[in-house]
Amino acid sequence: MAKRFPFSDFPSGWYVVGLSEELPPKGVLTRRYFDREIVLYRTESGELRATDPFCPHLGGHLGQARVEGDVLRCGFHGWKFDGAGKCVRAYGQNVPKTGVATWRAVERNQTLLVWFDARGREPTWEVPVIDPTGWTPFRFRKLAFNSHPQETSENSVDFGHFTEVHSFSKAWVVEEAVAEGPLLKATYGITKSFDLPKPLGQLGVDVTFHVQVHGLGYSYVQGEVPSLRIQYRHLILSTPVHDGRVHMRLATSVKKLPNPILTEMAHRMAFKGLCDEVESDMPIWEAKRYVERPVLAKGDGPIHKYRKWAKQFYPEAAA
Ligand code: FES
Ligand SMILES: [Fe+2]
Repeated sequence: MAKRFPFSDFPSGWYVVGLSEELPPKGVLTRRYFDREIVLYRTESGELRATDPFCPHLGGHLGQARVEGDVLRCGFHGWKFDGAGKCVRAYGQNVPKTGVATWRAVERNQTLLVWFDARGREPTWEVPVIDPTGWTPFRFRKLAFNSHPQETSENSVDFGHFTEVHSFSKAWVVEEAVAEGPLLKATYGITKSFDLPKPLGQLGVDVTFHVQVHGLGYSYVQGEVPSLRIQYRHLILSTPVHDGRVHMRLATSVKKLPNPILTEMAHRMAFKGLCDEVESDMPIWEAKRYVERPVLAKGDGPIHKYRKWAKQFYPEAAA
């Protein structure tokens, strides 16, 4: 079958492969992303690690290993591996010089991330640490569908679809998209419409939001609804599973209001808002095709600027 997208399946970058809450101390998880398995584990002291799945001894699956202190003990013959993947114990005093390949892994904002680079290059940037003080914990949801992180992240600059696909009756650009290395950012204003019971018609509230796209897998949106005194944060996290398939995790946090009940209402509203908007995008992402040389018109967003920026994440890019 012909490839759906004219770029490689797995652009370089940081990608979310799980949530902090899914991996307690001593926990071991196997995840399938980038068309391969990754074993995640957490040491007793809480450090996140990620390794290739197979033990270099006789191929035991490390997803069946257990954590002992700060090492991983293979469930087949009990050999142990440290954080660098090095074998630190076999049966006795003689430790064979062997090991398992590890992944760069970090835990940020309640998510577990690994660095992917098809050429094995080290990370040159990070995703931001978002200060949770005064904010509710992020609430998450995971979607799985057919697309590619470059396609889903293009949404952030695709100004033309805001009023067509989403429930925005008006949209305007506050700050044009700017590329800064692996970060692309822009600020928009929208009027979001809510249907009120008849005969009241519709209520429109203005929302301003800043979008930060950190590589193709990690988008962070900070928004505010001044008339309702709501400030929110969204994470939109695309991770390639295999050719043409992504998992997208959505998350929302809101700034705490003096009243916890109002905070909860605001959180639910903001999270539902995000889920509804992405559910509107999803069938379009699944069915569309990638147009390499689009004809654009006034009213379109900076699609070309985005695509030029996105090129840096491909293995073809200069090292
Ligand atoms: S296969 Fe892992 S210790 Fe033997
Ligand atoms: Fe969208």
